[in-house]
Amino acid sequence: MDIIMLHPSHIPHVQTCNITNLPENYFAKYYLYHALTWPQLSYVAIDLSKPPRSKNDPPKIVGYVLAKMEEEPVDGIPHGHITSLSVMRTHRRLGLAEKLMRQSQKAMVETFGAKYVSLHVRVSNKAALRLYKDTLQFEVEKVESKYYADGEDAFSMKQDLNFIWEQVKLDDESLRKDEKTKTEGDGTADHDEGDPVGDEGQEDNKKKKEVMRKVKIGRALGVSDLVEKVETPKAAS
Ligand code: ACO
Repeated sequence: MDIIMLHPSHIPHVQTCNITNLPENYFAKYYLYHALTWPQLSYVAIDLSKPPRSKNDPPKIVGYVLAKMEEEPVDGIPHGHITSLSVMRTHRRLGLAEKLMRQSQKAMVETFGAKYVSLHVRVSNKAALRLYKDTLQFEVEKVESKYYADGEDAFSMKQDLNFIWEQVKLDDESLRKDEKTKTEGDGTADHDEGDPVGDEGQEDNKKKKEVMRKVKIGRALGVSDLVEKVETPKAAS
């Protein structure tokens, strides 16, 4: 299983997944709007166990998360929003939805500085509620009456993303520490082992040879051995 960023070419397959799993469906241009405006936030899960037989075969998309940044947040706080999430029945309870959600949330913080993420879910959707409440630690903010076209209420849910900010800070600090240890030279610094190549390399080799000729090594050698000799191959007799 692979989780990759949503690409415009995935859209028809994501639409199929969405229509199969949810009554809330969208025009292709709405998916495209997400993919082009916040490309870091939407992901697809691809089943790699049956690789496409030819280059033209589409990847087997078995789940997706479609997410965005709230464009005009009423509270003035930058935050993300999960527009839609679903996983094909054949691939459920494998942790895909959780992975898709976490990937998107991380990008909301790292790329767009989101402070929290919001979503709507049907009050009757037990599986999704378990995922959001228990696994991902979302909280119910309020109930929105008759939010859905069929008259069902929605829970408006929210998750603070401060824990990701903390994680990002920790990662940055440990990266800085690593860099510092390396530049201060504790013996673990990466040395440039690449020799110059091409003309520059040949020049360099010539210089090296000259230097080698001048250095006399081997104290045990007699004076004659330290004198440079021109050795011509012996003529065949
Ligand atoms: N019953 C109880 N708990 C569940 C269920 C379930 N059917 N499915 C997931 N969970 C909870 C469990 O705690 C699970 O952890 P566990 O398996 O270790 O017990 C945890 O969520 C993580 O589950 P995942 O395997 O990551 O979830 P999955 O990939 O199966 O997808 C999803 C869950 C997206 C809700 C799926 O059932 C689905 O596509 N449903 C139909 C579409 C849908 O309802 N989408 C959400 C609409 S809301 C919105 O789009 C914003």
